[in-house]
Amino acid sequence: MGRYDLALIGFGGVNRALAELISQRGDRLAEELGFALRVVAITDLRAGSLVDTHGIDLAPLLAAEPGELAFAGLPGGSAEPRNEWVIREVPADIVVEATFTNPADGEPALSHARWALAAGKHVCTTNKGPVALACRELKQLAAEHGVGFEFEGSVLSGTPILRTAERMFGGLEITGVQGIMNGTSNYVLGRLEEGVGLRAAIAEAQELGYAEADPTADIEGHDVQLKVMILANEVLGAELCREDVIREGISKITPEDAQDAVSKGLRWKLVGSATRRPDGTVDARVAPVALPGDHPLAGISGPVNAVAFHTDLLGTVTVSGPGAGRIETAYALLSDIIAIHQRHHADDDTAPAHRVPQETSRV
Ligand code: HSE
Repeated sequence: MGRYDLALIGFGGVNRALAELISQRGDRLAEELGFALRVVAITDLRAGSLVDTHGIDLAPLLAAEPGELAFAGLPGGSAEPRNEWVIREVPADIVVEATFTNPADGEPALSHARWALAAGKHVCTTNKGPVALACRELKQLAAEHGVGFEFEGSVLSGTPILRTAERMFGGLEITGVQGIMNGTSNYVLGRLEEGVGLRAAIAEAQELGYAEADPTADIEGHDVQLKVMILANEVLGAELCREDVIREGISKITPEDAQDAVSKGLRWKLVGSATRRPDGTVDARVAPVALPGDHPLAGISGPVNAVAFHTDLLGTVTVSGPGAGRIETAYALLSDIIAIHQRHHADDDTAPAHRVPQETSRV
């Protein structure tokens, strides 16, 4: 059986949840997937860095409270994150990037991805910024080095939107996508319908863990703008930049507006959409829309997300599921690792590792 050695860049909720999955159900996953996963490096802004090329023992790290983790003093540990050194120099097959990243310039995730791909390592990331801003460049870099760049978690966490579009719609044309892609704004709109004011509803969403500490990106549509960019470019083959996606948030909608709409059989939703125009160009926008009750997105309530694919042969196909959450987003990374295996190594019987008579060997 083969094995992938992972470098986890960022050890906040998401990569920690991935480490939990590997620790708790690694054997089961190996049996099902045909490869094992081993973590050989972890870096984190607060905890520092930890390297063990024979495999890090995850159990004691996961037993510690997240805020109390400190790698300095452990064998192979340092108080410094040493991201560039770890990414470039530590022998790992896949760099799993889940740092806190600035969506405006995609950093530091963008540099992390560039360093890893240039070093011939596969990359999977949950960060929207580098995918929205530099996907073409990163895919090109990956191709030049014969490795993969995967990013399912950048749209609806583990709900498979990009892979559904890529793998399930062969032979038909996707003419547009429309989605509810931000749980916070959707939750808030639902509360407005119940008569709760905007500020109180946002505070509830923060309390429930849906909203960012600064919920502006959720409420004013910046978060969805990046997701629409990713969908437009990946699913419709556009080459849009951020300014090409028209953006309006939900902050002007009042409880009265929301309740009035319900009385008319409508529901206000923050809809992100990308639609191919007759001339082949793509119209992309995020804006509040009062959807009729029978629209496939009208019944998507609370923090749930959904994307409707408009197609020529099937009409509209809608995929709904969670759009956030640490386990859900960690699952996106696992699905990316599986995709890397399928694309790059599943038929690789000649890889030296497969000839080594060991229980597991690197693929
Ligand atoms: N804060 C986002 C949401 C989650 O509410 O959906 C990540 O994009």
